[in-house]
Amino acid sequence: MKSFASRIIRWQQCHGRHALPWQATHDPYRIWLSEVMLQQTQVATVIPYFERFVARFPDLPALAAAHEDDVLALWSGLGYYSRARNLHAAARTLVESHDGIFPAAADIIAQLPGVGRSTAAAIAALAFGQRGAILDGNVKRVLARHGGIAGWPGDRNVETALWQLAESHLPRNAIEAYTQGMMDLGALACTRSRPACPVCPVSTDCVAFTQHRTAELPTPRPK
Ligand code: ADE
Repeated sequence: MKSFASRIIRWQQCHGRHALPWQATHDPYRIWLSEVMLQQTQVATVIPYFERFVARFPDLPALAAAHEDDVLALWSGLGYYSRARNLHAAARTLVESHDGIFPAAADIIAQLPGVGRSTAAAIAALAFGQRGAILDGNVKRVLARHGGIAGWPGDRNVETALWQLAESHLPRNAIEAYTQGMMDLGALACTRSRPACPVCPVSTDCVAFTQHRTAELPTPRPK
């Protein structure tokens, strides 16, 4: 059987998303903005906000020079406004202390306010082709099901196990398609309820699918 990663990459090329506005670029500023908007908000909602934001603030210097009120006004309706404040503060730091150059290494990107390990790895992969694992909510679901990892993914030990799995599946090449493919598979096929296992490229060796446990994995948060 082909590797997990090569099946994800091929599936992404045939069935993944290719026309999202932030996919038309490798500009790290735009990819960073999109990933922060997508942290708590669905793609369809993000698209018009993203378009308005980059029209008004097309690059790091423009965002750094903005008044916070204007940044927040463009965020109005998206919620989780600390995301906008962090973005603005990070733009100022990058312009003042890093010559306005966006860092390419995930561990440096992860130090920006509002950017965690997974978001940093996604930006590094999508903007710079850097190899690294992501683990957002959708990817946790894919890996918990495929690997048969029981336990609530918010639990420290479970999360550690999921990060290890995520690292173990990483391809040598095509990290961009792989990263996008994991996000797309989680969002489009490996959905929380009624996952589309017949169209999934990794169902044949998926523990949850083969053991009829997709309804119970990932384990819900304990009450
Ligand atoms: N969710 C988080 N990042 C995403 C991306 N780049 N494309 C689609 N959904 C996402």
